[in-house]
Amino acid sequence: MLGMLLILVHFTEPISYYLYLRNRKLNIEYINNKYRNISIIIPTYNEGERIKEKLINVLQSYPLDYMEIIIVDSSNDNTEEIVKSMQIHKLKFIKEKERRGKIYAIREGIKQASNDIVVITDADAIWKDPLINAIKYLGGNIGAVSCIKHANSNVENSYRNFYNIIRIGESAIFSTPIFHGELTAFRKDIITPEELPNVGADDSTIATLVSLKGYRAICVENMRAVEIAPRGLDYITWKTRRGSHLIRHFTRFLSKVIRSKNRRFKGIFIEEFYLHLINPWLLIIGLILLSIWNLYLLIVLFSISAILSINVKFREALRAWLPNQLFLILSQFFALRGEVLAWKKERK
Ligand code: GDD
Ligand code: MN
Repeated sequence: MLGMLLILVHFTEPISYYLYLRNRKLNIEYINNKYRNISIIIPTYNEGERIKEKLINVLQSYPLDYMEIIIVDSSNDNTEEIVKSMQIHKLKFIKEKERRGKIYAIREGIKQASNDIVVITDADAIWKDPLINAIKYLGGNIGAVSCIKHANSNVENSYRNFYNIIRIGESAIFSTPIFHGELTAFRKDIITPEELPNVGADDSTIATLVSLKGYRAICVENMRAVEIAPRGLDYITWKTRRGSHLIRHFTRFLSKVIRSKNRRFKGIFIEEFYLHLINPWLLIIGLILLSIWNLYLLIVLFSISAILSINVKFREALRAWLPNQLFLILSQFFALRGEVLAWKKERK
């Protein structure tokens, strides 16, 4: 019976959280629709195939006079050549002597930024909306803004839709501790580069640091970004590696968040900690207990989900959810390894 209970909690907890957040709308007092000067940082490691499309997308997203582009590059392919051939108006191209990992590039980029508003974005991400949709929120008690995400596959998308709603709901309450590498915009007066630990997830780290300082870090609905997901085996290493970034971020900040005074952010952070680090185990342990002591119940459970899977929505949600729980568990073992260094580039 314990097995069944664990499985029940595994599913009802996130569903209740989702339902609790579902209809929340962002309540923002401060909006500044005027264009302000911004510095856009793109870290690059062998992005020759992507960088042109990326830069065109960035250049079209905000008025050129207001934007400085900082590329911190550690490539050994033709990325530099392509960037320089594009003759960008205000460009700082920083060539690193050796590849040291994304976080070093980000810290360097922030140091070189001339403007108070900084936007970090990955080379393999494309923005679907004008950047002002995110920038306009920065100011007042809003310290950082990120996007919502769309993917290039159906399964990845059903997982995304679920999480986008959660990100927006958390932002409506106060802050979300999970940001995206596609777009992390923040105010430089709140965060210094030295504060960023090397956990892999610079994006979420910024969201949490900003929140710990009493400012809000929000994901907004009208700023959408697409990311290309790798296929085949690379998909598994990609998911697991990124999961481990998030897990390190959660373990790194847990005690600080618990000691902080902001009850709303504390609740959100602890819930996300639970969803990423604890909830996946309930499913696995529940299934193991059932298969040892109550095979009959396990068969009933499988039959019920098979019947419900006639519904496409249910099937897709399950197909996205179940592997993700496994990835999260694998990620925890992955995260036990020491410092995050430069990671292998997956094929996309
Ligand atoms: N300069 C430099 N040096 N750039 C790097 C390095 C490096 O060692 N490693 C990666 N980059 C650049 C890539 O070229 C890309 O523009 C960006 O950093 C992100 O690298 P990806 O390899 O595409 O990372 P990811 O998609 O798996 O992970 C991203 O998303 C995660 C979840 O949102 C990153 O942004 C993670 O930081 C983030 O946690
Ligand atoms: Mn990427």
